[in-house]
Amino acid sequence: MSAGEQARATGSELVTRGLLAGYQQVVRPGLFRAHGGDAEAIHEDLIRALGVAGSVPVPVARLSASALGRRQGTTLAGIRFPGRVGVAAGLDKNGVAARAWAGLGFGFAELGTVTAQAQPGNPRPRLFRAKESGGIINRMGFNNEGAQTLADRLAGWGVERGNQALGIPVGISIGKTKVTPLDGAVEDYLTSLRLLADKADYLAINISSPNTPGLRSLQDGEALRELTRALVVEAAVLNPGNPVPIFVKVAPDLTWEALDEVLQTCEEAGISGLIATNTTLAREGLRGSDARLATEAGGLSGAPLTVRSREMVARIVQQSSLPVMGVGGIMTPADAQAMFDAGAQLVQVYTGFIYNGPALVRGINQLHR
Ligand code: FNR
Repeated sequence: MSAGEQARATGSELVTRGLLAGYQQVVRPGLFRAHGGDAEAIHEDLIRALGVAGSVPVPVARLSASALGRRQGTTLAGIRFPGRVGVAAGLDKNGVAARAWAGLGFGFAELGTVTAQAQPGNPRPRLFRAKESGGIINRMGFNNEGAQTLADRLAGWGVERGNQALGIPVGISIGKTKVTPLDGAVEDYLTSLRLLADKADYLAINISSPNTPGLRSLQDGEALRELTRALVVEAAVLNPGNPVPIFVKVAPDLTWEALDEVLQTCEEAGISGLIATNTTLAREGLRGSDARLATEAGGLSGAPLTVRSREMVARIVQQSSLPVMGVGGIMTPADAQAMFDAGAQLVQVYTGFIYNGPALVRGINQLHR
């Protein structure tokens, strides 16, 4: 590095540190105290505010994205990603804030999870912050406005697959409607795929949320074979020659044996890649007073998941040639670097973004390859 580059890098590092301190010391305490500390109400406010902020024109968003340091893109499954860190599913379930993510420095956003039918999700409270542990426990249960509403919202903004109308590629996560029995799951996912295939740059099949009864059983042998084949075939029917790429998101609680089987099935079905991982049912890593949350049903995310998600990514890379997006416990740029080193081509963040804000995104964007 030349002296000039060194100075620029140091200056840039200072900006990131300033952003981080500002978020952690000023924004976060206020945020976390609002609504009497009700984590879900705060989250809803944040997404609504980002929805308003995101209505600024895309060129302005692009400018601010460059201020947030996005510069290292990559191409995966034929999609050009302008940056390597994306919004993880669940953060913007209904795509309300979709126009804001590019401006915050993200290189892509995975919207959803949406289901074929709109549904309310589980009763509240269903979101718990495990602050001492840098974690979140959630049992939201796919509360969402449904695939059709998301498709209409994106259409209203001129979003079509491949046109980067929001400045970044859009992934959409689809899941099973709760009231649909497991033996109707394939048709349920197909309904969502048909509604969204011309809006999304990729689709993610969510079969790994712990909060819809029986959903994770779709990761098993024959059920996964049937589901992945049906979706890949339908994508090819809808867009002959240029089907929407389909990714599969897996749980961190799979044994290596089960994971290896998933990988084989995905390869045989023509799946484009993996997303690893969703939240965990394990409760190790809850520290101090957070131990009281251990009995809350739901999935744990954030720092307690860092090592497990990275190990899963490493295993996938070792066992398969499919590309991987790494997600789970990326709380610092160093965690993202470790995820890239484990073989992830892209990373996603949720809990780390809630705790550390845009500085985390900027810090990841500044990593050297
Ligand atoms: C999630 N996550 C999630 N994943 C998914 O595929 N569909 C979803 O709807 C949701 N919803 C959701 C809600 C909440 C409140 C949280 C905290 C998480 C899982 C998320 O995308 C990610 O896989 C894990 O949270 C692990 O990453 P982090 O949070 O440790 O960065």
